[in-house]
Amino acid sequence: MKAIITSGGKGTRLRPITHTQNKHLIPIANKPILYYALDTIAGTGIKEVGIVTNQEGMEVRNDIGDGSRWGVNVTYIEQSAPLGLAHVIKISEDFIAGEPFIFYLGDNMVVGGVKRFIDAFEQDNVNCFLTLARVKDPERFGVPEIVGNRIISVEEKPAQPKSKFAVAGIYIYDQAIFEAVNNIKPSARGELEISDAHQYLLEHGYKVGYSEITGWWKDTGKPADLLEANRLVLEHLEPAIQRGTVKDSTIAGNVIIGEGAQICNSNVRGPVIIGKRTKIENSYVGPFTSIYDDCIVRNSEVEFSIVLCQCQIINVGIRIESSILGNDVQIVKAKEKPATHKFMIGDQSRVELV
Ligand code: DAU
Repeated sequence: MKAIITSGGKGTRLRPITHTQNKHLIPIANKPILYYALDTIAGTGIKEVGIVTNQEGMEVRNDIGDGSRWGVNVTYIEQSAPLGLAHVIKISEDFIAGEPFIFYLGDNMVVGGVKRFIDAFEQDNVNCFLTLARVKDPERFGVPEIVGNRIISVEEKPAQPKSKFAVAGIYIYDQAIFEAVNNIKPSARGELEISDAHQYLLEHGYKVGYSEITGWWKDTGKPADLLEANRLVLEHLEPAIQRGTVKDSTIAGNVIIGEGAQICNSNVRGPVIIGKRTKIENSYVGPFTSIYDDCIVRNSEVEFSIVLCQCQIINVGIRIESSILGNDVQIVKAKEKPATHKFMIGDQSRVELV
């Protein structure tokens, strides 16, 4: 069994963060999303992993390297343009070289591993194994139609979903999938859709099995999903050795403090993770907040947020909540009058004021 992990696509729904950073490297609980995918795949015992990158994929290559940190061998497969998930499979055929494989979307996160699905794929002796998750908004996903205990059709982002399930981005295949991806046509949005490949398999008599993901699964495609994934991961983080210094502060719940971090005269209510060398002074950091390395939070309040590297939040008079701050962002109170809001904001940023 081999694995293919995606790290390409455009990440348009996460702009402006993705103007300067590949979305798969955005940290959730201070760890890049793609690392969770690699942890999950390495946890199955699979050794050969293909990572599909876009043409600007050096960032991913430089970060992940040869995969030895996870005990796997990584081969990079470049996709010339984001032509769809079925196209990703098409260009991976040489790498797969006749083996069954797991196709894992690098922006998906799942708890509990995926070995159980590989076992079910093998036991059920199917050509394709799909994982399903119950969601509130199936129209955002591939959606199966289920009759009895069989999937009878799959549609991509249907206006009228035929079930409450999303097909999650964890698929297991044998070689039949290559016949499918080589025979379907691009959709109206110009992509070779993975759901159309599944529909092809169903229409051509191939066996499609499935299992519902119990526990949690998240597609981190939108900002709200990132915050929710961050919340879920922080909630399940094991307490760790505190490496920073804490002075005159109240620390409640699970708060992980990185090396060289300083918390002074503050109130931190976990679950929270604070990165290396970050300073929290005269501030409140509330539940479900991840603050990355080398940040400063001074005389301010932050809760339920993700703050990336080298941010400064200083003297901000209102609590920052449900927010995602990219690298090197500053939110500071101006020193001089008039008391106005001043912005220096990149393309496609979003600011909500009260
Ligand atoms: O998350 C599950 C959903 O993923 C499924 O329910 C849908 O059926 C499936 O089409 C997919 O939908 P998304 O709209 O979420 O796909 P997205 O464009 O976000 O891409 C998912 C991953 O694949 C992400 O890691 C980016 C990467 N990608 C995507 C495309 C279209 C590529 O590497 N190349 C591509 O051409």
